[in-house]
Amino acid sequence: MPQEYRQILQHIDQPGYTPALECYLRHGGYAVLRQALALPPRTLPGGQVLSGPEQLRQEVMVSGLRGRGGAGFSCGLKWSFVDRKSGKPIYLICNADESEPGTFKDKQIIYKDPHQMLEGMIIASYANDVHLAFIYIRGEFVEGARILNRALQEARAKGFLGRNILGSGYDLEIHVHRGAGAYICGEETGLIESLEGKRAYPRIKPPYFPAVLGLYQCPTIVNNVETLCAVKHIVARGGAEYARLGTPNNTGTRIVSISGHVRRPGYYEIEVGKVTLGELIHDPAFGGGLREGRQLKAIIPGGSSAKVFKAGETFKLKRRGPDGKESVQEVALLDLPYDFDSLIAAGSMSGSGAIIVLDDSTDIVAALANIADFYAHESCGQCTPCREGSLWMAKALRRLTHGEGRPEDADYLAHIADNIPGGRTICAFGEACAWPVQSFVAKFRDEFIARGAADAKRRAASGRETAAPSGPPHPATAAALAQTPAE
Ligand SMILES: Cc1cc2nc3c(=O)[nH]c(=O)nc-3n(C[C@H](O)[C@H](O)[C@H](O)COP(=O)(O)O)c2cc1C
Ligand code: SF4
Repeated sequence: MPQEYRQILQHIDQPGYTPALECYLRHGGYAVLRQALALPPRTLPGGQVLSGPEQLRQEVMVSGLRGRGGAGFSCGLKWSFVDRKSGKPIYLICNADESEPGTFKDKQIIYKDPHQMLEGMIIASYANDVHLAFIYIRGEFVEGARILNRALQEARAKGFLGRNILGSGYDLEIHVHRGAGAYICGEETGLIESLEGKRAYPRIKPPYFPAVLGLYQCPTIVNNVETLCAVKHIVARGGAEYARLGTPNNTGTRIVSISGHVRRPGYYEIEVGKVTLGELIHDPAFGGGLREGRQLKAIIPGGSSAKVFKAGETFKLKRRGPDGKESVQEVALLDLPYDFDSLIAAGSMSGSGAIIVLDDSTDIVAALANIADFYAHESCGQCTPCREGSLWMAKALRRLTHGEGRPEDADYLAHIADNIPGGRTICAFGEACAWPVQSFVAKFRDEFIARGAADAKRRAASGRETAAPSGPPHPATAAALAQTPAE
């Protein structure tokens, strides 16, 4: 039976468990920080001496932890890129923007167990020689910011933060910074600009890799809330032991947000790769299945920007057998292990761990229109393909959902979406807005064409338009779109 594995969520939602420091301490809180600060230098067989912070960084590397914010990049590797020789201060930023639609895991930690996150942050800061760290929290989490500020006060009062933490000689201050509620503020370089007091325009990489040129042009680590919580558990268990959780290259646990047409929407912590997409949707321990009489239509497996899967899809994936030999096997959608690599191999991603389930009652055109509206609204506007493309796609979809579609809108949408990603934009928002459109249109093409054809026929019958415009998409289409009646 697939089961939850509650590590980060261990105490969350238990009766009587509160965000107060007292409660956290009663449950063993800050013991791992104490242990981390007390780590003595270790001499390696070759004579090299590893300081306590260096050992902590090594444990995180050994653990195989991959970032839980979206990209799934190795946390240990990210930390190893930090420029430690620049002479500039190193900053740590906890990304608590949680802006990817469908994702609601970080807020559970912030609201219900803030000290766990702070302990992870303090350990990560100590490991990276950080003396000033920030929590960038999305503007809408008003209560979350209040809870965190109270937790910071409590931690300061008890000597877990501030000068000479627990008598170790280590100093750290953490500030909460509230964003103004824009999706792009979750993108790390946009976040940094916003934290500097500017509009959240993402920076181009290179040269602005945060590990080298981040906040105030200083080396900066940006990690997700859940990633920083995992750091605490890695230090508690040891990196190698942590790596035994989950599956190779997909280690540890992660929190999955399940929403949409399931009986038990919610957040669940699993060992990465030990539970399949089908189990997450259908098992009583997780999503609990679809509503009475409904069939699965589609799954968005990693937040709204992940490419959609169509029910019934199968994938050819490389699998390693018990004998260690690799072979290509056909894997059905619902049998895909929920991990980083399998979902990428199947053409999508696990992203922020947000699974959105769509049953056969879903109007797929309307669902994509909803997503596209979001991206058109949230594009920061710096790059032409993203700014214009996201808007054109949203307008075309709005046309399709308002009886003004054309049969060729499917091709038109695909054409725009194909011309946004692939290095044409400053940040990955370009991919994020294009992937849903590319995948929805490719996998549900018939529905898009049928919708446009029905609209064109209806208009022709009413004499409003003799024939739908034809031919390949053209820049002039932009002018036509401008005439689309407003809602
Ligand atoms: C458009 C966009 C929005 C993002 N939003 C978030 C977010 O809300 N929270 C988050 O942790 N990461 C978000 N990310 C990923 C961050 O840029 C960054 O990779 C992440 O915070 C790094 O943390 P991790 O390595 O611990 O995952 C976003 C990325 C993009 C391109
Ligand atoms: S890709 Fe979009 S969101 Fe990112 S910088 Fe360019 S315009 Fe802004």
